[in-house]
Amino acid sequence: MIALGCDHGGYNLMVAIKKYLDEKNIAYKDFGTDSEASVDYPVYAYKVATEVAGGGCELGILCCGTGIGISMAANKVKGIRAAVVNNEFGAEMTRRHNHANILCMGGRVITEEQAVKFTDIFLNTPEEGGRHDNRVAMITAIENGEFEP
Ligand code: RB5
Repeated sequence: MIALGCDHGGYNLMVAIKKYLDEKNIAYKDFGTDSEASVDYPVYAYKVATEVAGGGCELGILCCGTGIGISMAANKVKGIRAAVVNNEFGAEMTRRHNHANILCMGGRVITEEQAVKFTDIFLNTPEEGGRHDNRVAMITAIENGEFEP
């Protein structure tokens, strides 16, 4: 199950992403927004991030104008690793190496076609273990105030 959220700046991308998920029969929970009317991106970041952190959804996708503000807000929720992605390599590597659990994109930065492509890569790339597990564990330790470099 994928958790989806966007503000008005990312609404165009989210329409295209939902069409892709429908075509692939991939289940999702849509936390809005549902139009191009101006809203506050932290609201949608919080809804999706708490859903993913709580285990209700395995992964999330968030879109705003740049992908940046909505990722900053999502990353304030414990257990969230939200990554802004602007190219195919990033979409792959943030799953493989960073174990990102939320993909963030910007409707004023990339095209709808790119957003669908990056979503496809993100959802179909596995996490690599070994040294990457150790590094992600360090991120978690920083988050928990337990990191000793
Ligand atoms: C909204 O105008 C815009 O600030 C928002 O979508 C996002 O780009 C913030 O990072």
